Amino acid sequence: MTTSHSKTDSATTLDGPAAGTFPDGFMFGAATAAYQVEGAAREDGRGPSIWDTFSHTPGKVAGGDTGDVACDHYHRLEADLDLMAQLGLDSYRFSIAWPRIQPTGRGEVNQAGLDFYRRLADGLRQRGIRPLATLYHWDLPQSLQDAGGWGVRETAHAFADYAGIVGGALGDRIDAWTTLNEPWCSAFLGHGSGVHAPGVTDAVTALRAAHHLNLGHGLALQALRGSVPSGAEYSVSLNLHVVHPDRPDVAEDLDAVRRIDALGNRIFTGPMFAGAYPEDLLSDTAPLTDWSFVHDGDLADIHQPLETIGINYYSTSRVRQWDGTGQNNHSTGHNLSSASPWPGADSVQFLPQPAPHTAMGWNIEPSGLYELIMRMHRENPDKSLLITENGSAFDDTVTTADGQRRVHDPERTDYLRRHLEVVLQTIAEGADVRGYYAWSLLDNFEWAYGYSKRFGLVHVDYDTLERTPKDSGLWYAQVARARSLA
Ligand code: NOJ
Repeated sequence: MTTSHSKTDSATTLDGPAAGTFPDGFMFGAATAAYQVEGAAREDGRGPSIWDTFSHTPGKVAGGDTGDVACDHYHRLEADLDLMAQLGLDSYRFSIAWPRIQPTGRGEVNQAGLDFYRRLADGLRQRGIRPLATLYHWDLPQSLQDAGGWGVRETAHAFADYAGIVGGALGDRIDAWTTLNEPWCSAFLGHGSGVHAPGVTDAVTALRAAHHLNLGHGLALQALRGSVPSGAEYSVSLNLHVVHPDRPDVAEDLDAVRRIDALGNRIFTGPMFAGAYPEDLLSDTAPLTDWSFVHDGDLADIHQPLETIGINYYSTSRVRQWDGTGQNNHSTGHNLSSASPWPGADSVQFLPQPAPHTAMGWNIEPSGLYELIMRMHRENPDKSLLITENGSAFDDTVTTADGQRRVHDPERTDYLRRHLEVVLQTIAEGADVRGYYAWSLLDNFEWAYGYSKRFGLVHVDYDTLERTPKDSGLWYAQVARARSLA
């Protein structure tokens, strides 16, 4: 690493003696989600979720994979907790499976479900690891879907009830909460392109779902604040899109960027952080809907005080005006469907991005994270930021030498290092970034891609369920201990 006074174009140019070193209290974490790692899908009273239904529907998930067993984290909790301690994590971000807590999404509470997360939170705290709980990472109870799912506002109210139950039961041991994970995916991959559960392809339902997710976020925050002891911190995790014009000097391409920014970002940040839907979003989508599903009082319910914005970041997109001919990549790499996840944006074409790419086909572009952090910092100077997900899939293999299992994954280490350098740089420029969660702790069920894509710091052998920390995981542990990239 260069000295703190060199003037090369990287985070190593930070001035001052602390260059390359993370601030005190900065949290190095790793993240997972319930359906992707837990397994035990029919045990201890858990009800079915939309992802059970979807993954068991032929043709929806690569290889016919399901989360029935996943990483078997539910049964291997203690060993996985030890693994986290071994990796030197300061914090662990996990999600709570709503169908474990309320098997039908309403009414009766399943004590065994609460007990599991109580054991998880206690096990983390005993190891000095701070729990960060996400309330909704896509596993809606199937019974609620049967009643209309996120397409109807009752689901937002049911979500608030669930939030209150969980807050009341676990609020004494969890003081960091995220309401929703990537509501864009729930709304638009779930109801627009249909590549995620529940697999609906209807533009208006997708917009309704976005609104009801926003409403659920606001109502859940109110329920949490009413049930969790004061002093807890609240956030939402958004997969904000970094969109660039193909031709920066062409007005139509700049307008394509604006449309995707409205549908991909401001549809959530507008109501959540400023209490209003953007005017241009309403007019762009006017041919589809009059937004009469937004009721009086909804925006006040959504616009609740919030300490922290969680940023999930992987790659960038490039768009231009579309005349309807040629391939449209529809962004974000979720290209398993020909239907568009972008309601009313038929005139926008997503172009392939230049190499390098990860195994998802997503371009590696750390400057996109820089852009996003600085934008959120500028637009929301009152809020702190957490990188609640960042990571990469590569085709890892296990090698054995001298009886030692190893996974050599230099590309993943490089990905992590370059994005962490960006985080340091934004902190030096004044952004209040409090932590970074690598996606993911373990290789796991990558939604429509099943087990074919590996994002873990730790390799999982899906035949034996054996865990092997990858070289990148060992590197990350060193960084977490040294609190420095030097
Ligand atoms: C987004 C999601 O939150 C997570 O569940 C997923 O596995 C990763 N990003 C990678 O696609």
